[in-house]
Amino acid sequence: MSEPLRLALGADHAGFEQKTEMATWLKSLGFEVLDLGSYDDGRVDYPDYAVAVSEKLQSGQADLGILLCGTGIGMAIAANKCRGIRAANALNTDFARLAREHNAANVLTLSARFVDLPENQAIVQAFLEAEPLGERHAERVEKINSLDK
Ligand code: RB5
Repeated sequence: MSEPLRLALGADHAGFEQKTEMATWLKSLGFEVLDLGSYDDGRVDYPDYAVAVSEKLQSGQADLGILLCGTGIGMAIAANKCRGIRAANALNTDFARLAREHNAANVLTLSARFVDLPENQAIVQAFLEAEPLGERHAERVEKINSLDK
């Protein structure tokens, strides 16, 4: 049997509630979950959590990351500053699937203020079920990777 996928989760105050529910749900599905906070609704800065999740991927301690903030936008901008991270902000299942298939996204960012938990769970499921397609997409992803200086 293959090892369970290791997922690093992070959120700011806007996303912490959905992130906490998401962590429990993903564990119940058999994934290994690293919950890197935030752990309450106290005001925090989303880049800190984007970096924490990115570092788990960079060190090889996690396979994929999931980040939640109000829109998912700040998390994506911050995570994409980190070497080796390809973060995609997805507001629907098609975008999540395509982010994985075409862009080999390794971090999914979600909006906790504009998308409810069941829809975000469907988006996460689409992301986790998809695989990078390779071939012409892989060549483009390699060009993205070469932008890491
Ligand atoms: C916090 O108020 C909010 O700015 C943050 O959660 C996020 O939406 C940023 O992109």
